[in-house]
Amino acid sequence: MRTLALRGTDLPVSNIVLGLMRIGSLADEEIRTLVRTARDAGINVFDHADIYGDERHGAEERFGSAGAVPASERDQVYIQSKVGIRSGFYDFSREHILRTVDEALAALRTDYLDALLLHRPDTLMEPDEVAGAFDHLEAAGKVRSFGVSNHTPGQIELLRRSVRQPLVINQVQLSITHAPLFAQGVAANMLDEDQSIDRDNGILEHARLNDITLQAWSPFQAGFFTGVFLGDRENYAELNEAIDELAAKYSVTPTGIAVAWITRHPAGIQVVLGSTNPGRVADSAAGSDVPLTREEWYRLFRAAGHRLP
Ligand SMILES: NC(=O)c1ccc[n+]([C@@H]2O[C@H](COP(=O)([O-])OP(=O)(O)OC[C@H]3O[C@@H](n4cnc5c(N)ncnc54)[C@H](OP(=O)(O)O)[C@@H]3O)[C@@H](O)[C@H]2O)c1
Repeated sequence: MRTLALRGTDLPVSNIVLGLMRIGSLADEEIRTLVRTARDAGINVFDHADIYGDERHGAEERFGSAGAVPASERDQVYIQSKVGIRSGFYDFSREHILRTVDEALAALRTDYLDALLLHRPDTLMEPDEVAGAFDHLEAAGKVRSFGVSNHTPGQIELLRRSVRQPLVINQVQLSITHAPLFAQGVAANMLDEDQSIDRDNGILEHARLNDITLQAWSPFQAGFFTGVFLGDRENYAELNEAIDELAAKYSVTPTGIAVAWITRHPAGIQVVLGSTNPGRVADSAAGSDVPLTREEWYRLFRAAGHRLP
């Protein structure tokens, strides 16, 4: 397992993250097996949010009550959670942030979060109010690092003018088939290419320039929860053929290649996978350090339908 240095922690973190969005209906033993499999494979980062699960804090509660990480091993793992999405609106108010963290800590059975991420940009946010909440959480020892998710560089800069702590993570959607983050840049300034439409104002370059670690969510999903591209030969025949060939070459599964396509990027991106299947988690971990060549990386990119002008 390849590890990365993440600002704000001395713990070397795995470049694969286990996302717990889908564990709401799993039994305690299934959750322990899932997390144990991940940890045995070298994964030491776990991603939560207040909204995951069947009810608010549902997945955090399942994780905590199952004893997924024994208290004696808490310092061996990096646990992050998110705040800001509510039913029908986004909310970065001080009161909501502070209350949500207290609820998350209780559900997770832990004293602190390694990182708290602002889940989706709240256009009604008051940066000074967010800064006050972060200061309070840091001083109380409840949150050690802060970050964002689905934020543009401009939104991050607006926060950074008020927030004292570095924003160390930006978690964004990224898979071979859902890759505007890379696809726009390679087709920049081409009038006739839809691909050159800028959808994020340069998240990739901004993150690299500012030591913000990108985390890729939904690495196996074709689009926004539209189903997985792996094995979908009807819509992604050429891509699956290329993936199968590379899987054989590197002695990993197609899942490993889908992961490797992201981990191969020099930006040091972490892959946040959401499988509840221990076998698939182990297969994903095997993709942590597969040295795809430039030619192979671009072959997968093109096979997914992206163009090189
Ligand atoms: N920041 C954000 O806005 C945001 C948004 C969404 C998600 N997330 C985070 O990202 C994590 C991952 O998201 P995700 O779960 O959408 O990503 P994902 O890992 O791309 O998708 C996982 C889902 O795909 C299924 N799957 C994976 N490979 C498969 C295959 N080869 N054949 C059939 N089914 C397959 C899994 O089923 P099995 O369980 O059976 O393997 C699971 O239902 C979440 O847990 C969450 O932590 C963040």
